[in-house]
Amino acid sequence: MNNYDICVLGLGYIGLPTASIFSTKGKKVLGVDVVQSVVDTINDGRIHIEEPDLDLLVRAAVQSGNLTAAVAPAVADVFIIAVPTPFDEREDGSRVPDLKYVEAATRSIAPVVKPGDLVILESTSPVGTTEKVRDWLIDELVKQGNTEANEKDYHFVHCPERILPGQMLKELVTNDRISGGLTPEAAQKAKELYECFCTAEIFLTDARSAEMSKLTENSFRDVNIAFANELSMVCDELDMDVWEVIKLSNRHPRVNILNPGPGVGGHCIAVDPWFIVDAAPERARLIRTAREVNESKPEYVLAQIQRKADRLKDPVIACLGLAFKANVDDLRESPALDITKQVAGIEGARVLVAEPHITELPKALEGKCELMDAEDAIKAADIVVLLVDHKSFASLSKPVLAERMIIDTRGFWK
Ligand SMILES: NC(=O)c1ccc[n+]([C@@H]2O[C@H](COP(=O)([O-])OP(=O)(O)OC[C@H]3O[C@@H](n4cnc5c(N)ncnc54)[C@H](O)[C@@H]3O)[C@@H](O)[C@H]2O)c1
Repeated sequence: MNNYDICVLGLGYIGLPTASIFSTKGKKVLGVDVVQSVVDTINDGRIHIEEPDLDLLVRAAVQSGNLTAAVAPAVADVFIIAVPTPFDEREDGSRVPDLKYVEAATRSIAPVVKPGDLVILESTSPVGTTEKVRDWLIDELVKQGNTEANEKDYHFVHCPERILPGQMLKELVTNDRISGGLTPEAAQKAKELYECFCTAEIFLTDARSAEMSKLTENSFRDVNIAFANELSMVCDELDMDVWEVIKLSNRHPRVNILNPGPGVGGHCIAVDPWFIVDAAPERARLIRTAREVNESKPEYVLAQIQRKADRLKDPVIACLGLAFKANVDDLRESPALDITKQVAGIEGARVLVAEPHITELPKALEGKCELMDAEDAIKAADIVVLLVDHKSFASLSKPVLAERMIIDTRGFWK
């Protein structure tokens, strides 16, 4: 069996750039993913996700011989877990973290992990998950016949990832990091590992503080966005221009209101605050309310569109953007996609979709909408709904837009 320096489990938006950058620093890396087509694509030196320059990095890593992908882990000194951490929705509407991917990835390393190895959890996780990783691993080792398995023989760390889609390769190197160990020795080992490519500061702490700090960062963003979104709905009700109000308020030296939008998407900010709410439901009132405000915004936008559509017979509606944020191809947890799905259900409406980052419509919109170039879409439309502030939409024809009913959820054309 090959002995790798690092085995990265999960080759998505986080795992693939991480595996590749370690490879380009001379580490022998095995990237593991349960999806065979992902493994084949990477072994071919290509990528299955969109991220600027990631294709070049992966090609260089694979061609150097330092990055290989496989569907199962192999012997390595370090295991990095970068698998999804979504939530499950209960019948009563509450959300509970779904750790099945983390558990499966952890258990999958039992046949190859050896005493002295470092196990790093990079997935954004509820407080206490690193301890669970330790317990699952020991449980699996015992189940597989290693009755002597002892947690003290392995090092467990949580190193949350903060990189921003669209700027991942830069931020991987320049963002400060947190290394939260179940022991100080484990935290130190992870710090030394990341120092091979990270030029910023790496702070040592315990695993629970590392877990909570990552959740706190995303909850802070969510609460601040909720304030802006709530304000946008208040101003709309008062028939006021929220962008003007925010612009003026932000001239106060200690006020910095964020931009409202169609809702909050992605699988981080829209998900992670629920992990805090689930852990302390009675106390996390503001965090829960912020989530609810942000979750209500797509419905509000839909009602705005519906009101305009009601004024027309057989309206043609152009929805600009489906991604969860500007300049990326990621449609997961996207409020723009949610809104467009609902718009497609408006009686008698012809719905045109412009999303420059995809080449075919997602399944949910197939047969219900037409994917087209943004300029053609606005020319054909009665109502133009700007859902994502993709750079390319900035150059759309102003005279054409001036003749359309506009719902600009991002204040992009202000
Ligand atoms: N994408 C981001 O911007 C971002 C930023 C910070 C943190 N995170 C966190 O990082 C984690 C990973 O997110 P992502 O965006 O990379 O997810 P992703 O869905 O892009 O990739 C995860 C990959 O893991 C694979 N996988 C699932 N189970 C596996 C297993 N048992 N073994 C090996 N591979 C397995 C999946 O097939 C998938 O390819 C999540 O916890 C997320 O919250 C993401």
